[in-house]
Amino acid sequence: MEKEKFYITTPIYYPSDKLHIGHSYCTVATDTMARYKRLRGFDVMFLTGSDEHGQKIERIAEAQNTTPKAYTDKIVATFKDLWQKLDISYDKFIRTTDDYHVKAVQKIFKRLYDQGDIYKSEYEGWYCTPCETFFTEHQLVDGKCPDCGREVEKVKEESYFFRLSKYQDRIIKYMEENPEWLQPATRQNEMINNFLKPGLEDLAVSRTSFTWGIPVEFDPGHIVYVWVDALSNYITAMGYGSDDDSLFKKFWPADVHVVGKEIVRFHSIIWPAMLMALDLPLPKKIFGHGWLVINGNKMSKSVGNVVDPFVLVEKYGVDAIRYFLLREIAFGQDGNFSNEALIQRINSDLANDLGNLVSRTAGMIEKYFGGKLPAEQKETEFDADLINVAKETAEKVEEKMEKMLFSDALNEIWTLIRRTNKYIDETQPWILIKDETKKDVLANALYNVAESIRIVSIMIQPFMPNTPALIWKQIGITEGEMTAWDTIKTWGLLDRQVAVSKGEAIFPRIDIKKELAELEEAMKAAQAASVANQTKEASKEDKKEEEKEEEKVPEITIDDFLKVQLKVGEVISSEKVQKSKKLLRNVVKVGDEERVIFSGISQWYTPEEMVGKRVIIVANLKPRKMMGEYSYGMILAAEDSDGNLSLATVDKPDFESGVEIG
Ligand code: MSP
Repeated sequence: MEKEKFYITTPIYYPSDKLHIGHSYCTVATDTMARYKRLRGFDVMFLTGSDEHGQKIERIAEAQNTTPKAYTDKIVATFKDLWQKLDISYDKFIRTTDDYHVKAVQKIFKRLYDQGDIYKSEYEGWYCTPCETFFTEHQLVDGKCPDCGREVEKVKEESYFFRLSKYQDRIIKYMEENPEWLQPATRQNEMINNFLKPGLEDLAVSRTSFTWGIPVEFDPGHIVYVWVDALSNYITAMGYGSDDDSLFKKFWPADVHVVGKEIVRFHSIIWPAMLMALDLPLPKKIFGHGWLVINGNKMSKSVGNVVDPFVLVEKYGVDAIRYFLLREIAFGQDGNFSNEALIQRINSDLANDLGNLVSRTAGMIEKYFGGKLPAEQKETEFDADLINVAKETAEKVEEKMEKMLFSDALNEIWTLIRRTNKYIDETQPWILIKDETKKDVLANALYNVAESIRIVSIMIQPFMPNTPALIWKQIGITEGEMTAWDTIKTWGLLDRQVAVSKGEAIFPRIDIKKELAELEEAMKAAQAASVANQTKEASKEDKKEEEKEEEKVPEITIDDFLKVQLKVGEVISSEKVQKSKKLLRNVVKVGDEERVIFSGISQWYTPEEMVGKRVIIVANLKPRKMMGEYSYGMILAAEDSDGNLSLATVDKPDFESGVEIG
């Protein structure tokens, strides 16, 4: 029987000389889904690649005294190296500089021109080079790029236009009739309300002011707009527009495009319009994932907060990094990256829960039975529940994986791991061994644990490509029938006389103190200051002192003031901190991010009163550790001479959060 096909893509990456763990996130997630589908018997096509054209690349190459192609060749080699280190199992890597892609894009452009979907006119507007995006005057925010906040350039040139506006109603209708098409659902509302309903303008799809791109075949002074070039990759990579389009016929439409949230707009508006114009079916799903952030800021080279994935993989191993990325961050939402959280996950989930379970089990079978369980085994009263949890876990994991809820799927697997550890505590092998008549009960208990480990090892395969084989070695099986995905639903497949061979710990514990010493050092000063502030009950004398200090406050220049970034935040949850008299732990929505901000205001505001308030926050304050957790910013408030406190806020109750104040 022919296998069912599954076509999944990542965005194609801009050649950046500073790849960071944020870039890896999208690709690791896509890889996990591709691996899962392969394990489930699908014929998978996993596409990734590089998006190499555009003015930005032309300028970088120029600055480095090299050609754009020589520059991108070098960077693409580092992409491939990183994907190899992260065990990314892509089936095809497309470069937009590949000859077949160039030719196919030229054909697409020509066809759209011939049929009247592209026409020639004049473009006057604004262009953000880092984002390679055109904007109209009214789309700019404070005269800057609405996506990245950087300077835009005025461009006026002859240009070809794509009749995007013609497809507006069809796209809205499509989205409304297919509410599952764009995931998570909130992204769909955002596209409809913010872009589609206000009205689409025709899109400038060629440039004449630079040369690094695909020339319009019939008007070579024009270069095809990079997004038209880039989006086409999903079909050209499969041979669309070439002599051999068999892969295209087999795999299109794609089952899912996995993309970061900032490029959902291109994938859910421009791309469907292009496909409609080409009379091709739309991709079945678009999943817009969130960002990996550091202290609330998107990890990016220009912010200077990037975390090097090569270093992380080298230090902690690829499986630990992949596990962390997909476990810590709910797919679709933003998630914070910190070394501390990473090490904690490695120690608690991987070394303690999973690693320990495997080595303990192999160790006991070795110690109590010389490495092989006897055939005589007798059930215990605890078996039924463990077996039941294993069965339920298998079902739930599949359900979550189908929806790409990776963190939830891992959570289910870990429920079984923890249940198995609990089963060991219930059956108490170390007591059973003391009673010669209970050897059969002991053997059965250890068998059940080993069988549960087998099931776990199969389910973690999409996430952790290397760990399963290490586990199989310890519980005496090899990849094959016993490790096939479908066997997770059948309890008892493992040979009852399991023969183990205890190996090295699969995830050695990390000395968190040692690892974090460096980081701690830097944080210490800030921490000491903040703790002192929080615990100090300001006496009247202290107050007077403070007032005197205030009087001495020096004048600052406008430049000093501009260093402070004030933003509107919406408090979405708030709770009292147990061990503190003053502190509330608030979760504040600031635009797309959610930040934890502690504030010493619980004498004046209850958590219930805080929720829903629009507050003013200092957004670029260095994070401070309070009560064992970082606080990302400060909520502003004023205190009068009688000690009454009032929060600083905006005077419109539903004012948009994330807006900068100045
Ligand atoms: N070239 C375009 C995509 C064209 S697709 C037809 C592009 N490239 S990119 O290199 O800037 O980004 C590639 C992917 O990496 C995007 O999905 C983007 O969201 C993702 N990430 C880049 N930084 C990220 C984080 N900090 N966190 C999570 N993903 C992020 O966009």
